[in-house]
Amino acid sequence: MEIDIFTLFPQWFDWLREQRHVANVLADGSRIECVDFRASTPLSGGQVDDTPFGGGAGMVLRVDVLDAALRARYGVDPVELRERRRVIALAPGGRLLDEELVRELAAEPALTLLCGRYEGFDERIIEHFASDVVSIGRYVLSGGEPAAMVVCDAVLRKLPGALGDERSAAEESFSEALEGNPEYPHYTRPAEYRGWAVPEILLSGHHERIERWRLERSRERGRPEPAAD
Ligand code: 6GU
Repeated sequence: MEIDIFTLFPQWFDWLREQRHVANVLADGSRIECVDFRASTPLSGGQVDDTPFGGGAGMVLRVDVLDAALRARYGVDPVELRERRRVIALAPGGRLLDEELVRELAAEPALTLLCGRYEGFDERIIEHFASDVVSIGRYVLSGGEPAAMVVCDAVLRKLPGALGDERSAAEESFSEALEGNPEYPHYTRPAEYRGWAVPEILLSGHHERIERWRLERSRERGRPEPAAD
């Protein structure tokens, strides 16, 4: 997997690269590279954003700046780039990141993530350069960088070798083994703490019954909450 991240804060991603499951896949041939769109801006003084037409607070990332940055990186017109590579703009109003989208992205050979700052992107970036707009939740972050890290984390841990133990991926939350439900509860030693006992069945050694118990707990967690009135 090759991930290019367009950002004004490339150094933030050094931290991400050091996280173990990320480091594991990077050691295995995957790449995370950051492109600072200030480096290729056609505007003077490293300018990348501008005030919104029509007025209003904040600054908007300019379409000519993104055009130059994508062109410098890939050597093609960005309008064509999205035909052959997922170019994902991170914005609060986009498609919500869920397990299905994470799997879809993990199956791609390469991803481009565009991090907006301030009030976000000039809409023409989304219309003409992006193949996708992705959001990590219905709340506003100061920029797309934390969302890009979430995407990288969720996608890269799907790759073979990311987790030390492949079984942890097979039976984790939202997996097929759990019928798409959240994971069952886990317990470890001590078997009793402050009077709080671990469910008996987990100490019983009956593997089949334990499997059944876990699947039931997972199904319970997957049931929609009763609607509040
Ligand atoms: Cl992807 N970007 C920003 N700026 N805010 C967000 C988001 C993305 N997802 C949720 N909030």
